[in-house]
Amino acid sequence: MFARRIAVVGTGYVGLTTGACLASLGHRVVCADSDAAKVARLQAGRVTIPEPGLPELVTAGLAAGRLEFVLGATQAVGNAEVVFLCVPTPMGEGGAADLRAVESVIAEVGARLPRGCILVNKSTVPVGTAAKIAELLDRDDVAVVSNPEFLREGSAVEDFLDPDRIVVGSDAEDAAERVVALYTRLGAPSVLTDAASSELVKYAANCFLAMKLSYVNAMAELCERLGADIADVTEGMGYDRRIGQSFLRPGPGWGGSCLPKDTYALAQVARVAGVEFPLLEATIDTNTRQRQLVLGKIRAAAGGSLRGKRIGMLGLAFKAGTDDLRDSPALAVAELLAAEGAELSAYDPAISGEVPGILTTDDPYQAVKGAAVIVLLTEWPEFRGLDWGRIGEMAQAPVVDTRNHLDPDVVRLAGLAWIGIGR
Ligand code: UGA
Repeated sequence: MFARRIAVVGTGYVGLTTGACLASLGHRVVCADSDAAKVARLQAGRVTIPEPGLPELVTAGLAAGRLEFVLGATQAVGNAEVVFLCVPTPMGEGGAADLRAVESVIAEVGARLPRGCILVNKSTVPVGTAAKIAELLDRDDVAVVSNPEFLREGSAVEDFLDPDRIVVGSDAEDAAERVVALYTRLGAPSVLTDAASSELVKYAANCFLAMKLSYVNAMAELCERLGADIADVTEGMGYDRRIGQSFLRPGPGWGGSCLPKDTYALAQVARVAGVEFPLLEATIDTNTRQRQLVLGKIRAAAGGSLRGKRIGMLGLAFKAGTDDLRDSPALAVAELLAAEGAELSAYDPAISGEVPGILTTDDPYQAVKGAAVIVLLTEWPEFRGLDWGRIGEMAQAPVVDTRNHLDPDVVRLAGLAWIGIGR
């Protein structure tokens, strides 16, 4: 394998993971960000993104001289053979992806890219963006390639270094092959395709995952009505290798910075393309409905009204292993609870700052003290290890476990009712 000179623009969890992991594969990587304080921290080897293994890779890359951090994309690209774009593409108007960050990087460095260099887009962007980037760039000597990432927050390093697949798309085939070659050491299957197909793979995968979860959440409701147990139903389904056991856990709805944004964006893409995609609309609607169902469970557990009742929340992050609150189902449920007059207190092991409308504490027992209902919203392992006997003494409150995460017997032994999802 040839070690390449690589520039990575953007040091969020995707950019930083990409840079540090490519350096660990032997490439020489310069990462750029527009935030001076962040660059200074990274130059000193301080990583504030809670990704297991990432601080170690950054330290090792810096020590080996294979990883460097600079302020501004211009500083990074001058000598690069391959430039990765890893900038945010948040939800913009009408649910479509907001491409301003991508466009501004092109405007900044487009003319400075070395001849023959490859511009790789890793940000999640609508189909056609590679073509649009090529148009904005207006350079015959720079190839544009799409190479979507499939990194989960909280296991990004593991997902990068042990990927299920590498997807690379370009209308310039030799450039795409050179990008695939960057990953040779990972030994993963690769899909080499055109730019539009590659861009679509990312949405197709994330939306399928969202659909799987909405299906399971709807199935969980049916289980409750029919006296069945969703855990057994999904286990029974999951042994079918065509379905698989993963991504079948019911919950308070799916959230985070990717699935909601990408489902809305694909729905918008389909609308613009004039394609009816009711499955996608139903996936999104089922997720909105799931939050209402959780609200209904909590309201019922509170005796029919939430007005003036204290709800003790365990978990705020959109999933365990991250401090990310973006599109967190826990916050969506909190908003619904507050709208019905509940008072909210919460503990999340990864969240220490203030959260509007919620009294946060760094002590789980304090969060549930005197609560009318205790609600578990994020599946942190430490919630299983809480002293539930002590909690039973502090709050004679039913426990709504929206992740089926606790051992119901342990909760019941503490004298508390346990209310799960789909069982
Ligand atoms: C997701 C995808 O899983 C990644 O493959 C993708 O690269 C990433 O988006 C992205 O587009 O960048 P992530 O947002 O980190 O990763 O979160 P997931 O682990 O997929 O979880 C999404 C939501 O589904 C969370 O709210 C989680 O709690 C929920 N979930 C997940 C369930 O409710 N049940 C499950 O069985 C699994």
